[in-house]
Formats: sequence, structure tokens, C-alpha cells
Amino acid sequence: MSESRLGILLSGRGSNFLAIAESFHQGRIANAKIAVVISNRRHAPGIEAARDAGFPTEIIEPRGRSRTEHDAEIIAVLRANQVDLVCLAGYMRLLSAEFVRAFPQRILNIHPSLLPAFPGLDAQRQALEYGVTVAGCTVHLVDEELDHGAIILQKTVPVFPQDDERALSARILEQEHIAYTQAIIRVLSGKYHIAGRRFVPRSDGD
Ligand code: GRF
Repeated sequence: MSESRLGILLSGRGSNFLAIAESFHQGRIANAKIAVVISNRRHAPGIEAARDAGFPTEIIEPRGRSRTEHDAEIIAVLRANQVDLVCLAGYMRLLSAEFVRAFPQRILNIHPSLLPAFPGLDAQRQALEYGVTVAGCTVHLVDEELDHGAIILQKTVPVFPQDDERALSARILEQEHIAYTQAIIRVLSGKYHIAGRRFVPRSDGD
């Protein structure tokens, strides 16, 4: 099987990217490499960390262009780098339908809630304000709706009465860093199919 090539998109801190990079470094993700890391923000700490770590990086700012035009440039860079799996890691922009269609079922996202609860911004705050006692994160395939595609895996964490947004976010983030690598390994294995909304792993006997 030929080596898979990942493209990482980020906008900020980049801790999920760094966790994925560490998994590569430890040899936990086989037969694949990070081909390019792309940021829509020039000074995102995550893109600076990627550059410092020696990964190929690109900064592609919207510069007043339409979403479709901006995304077209990103798609071109992903294609030029022969990317076959796109991982959104704190990428704070909606993808155009053209982008989603350019990589059908090959774009992953991580969201800091147990979807379908609390999509969108400030998911951890939404969860606290709602009063849930269990929270978590979701890695899912990206479709044309926000935080919506088939769920690859979820991790749960408890919510304690004394939690504030910062404490809960940190507890969830720890699980995000574990979940993203696991999800990438599952997808790269190719041992699954999608049935409706369900990501169904295949057992080895199948
Ligand atoms: C994470 O909480 C992720 O779930 C959300 O954005 C945040 C990104 O954090 N989509 P980082 O940039 O990976 O540290």
C-alpha cells in the first residue's frame, strides 16, 4: 500500500497538530507522513511550531477573497503535496462545499463536545452552561454541515461541580490528543465502511 499523505489545517495554538506529530515521531501511525501544514493565520502559534519542527508549511490567508477562492488555493496546495487525508486541527473557518467535495470522506475534524450536542463555537462553555455532567470530544468526517459528518470516535470526561470553562477545556483537550491519533489510525487502516451516518469498523475476519 502506498504511503498516505496528511495535510493538517490549523488556525491557532496547534496542540492537536503537535499531538499528531508526536504520534508520527513515536512510530504509532504507520505508512503515512505529514505532507504539509497549512494555516489561514500568519501568526498562529501552531504554524510557527510546525515550521520550527521542520514540517513543510504554507500560510494561506483569505485576504478579502470569497470562501470559494480561498479554499481553491488551499485545495491546490493540498493537491500539489499529494495529500489524501486532510485533518482539521483547530481550523476556525467553515469549509466550502467545493472543498468538502474535493476530498470526499477524507477530511477529519475534532470538536470539543460529544456531538451532536454543542456544535459551533465555545462548545465547552455551552456544555457547562447546559449543566451536563459528562462532556468530551468527537472526531468526525467532515460533510457540508457544521460539526456534522459521521462520527469516527468519541471520548468522554466527567464534569465536576467546581469546574470552570478552563478546567473542563483542559480535561477535554487531554482526550482530544489521544482521540485524534486513534481516529487517524482507524481511517488509514481502511477497515471500515460508512452506513448512513455510522462509521462501522470492520473486524479482521470480514
Ligand atoms: C480544540 O479544542 C479542537 O477541538 C477545536 O479547536 C481547538 C484547537 O486546539 N476544534 P489546538 O489548536 O489543537 O490546540
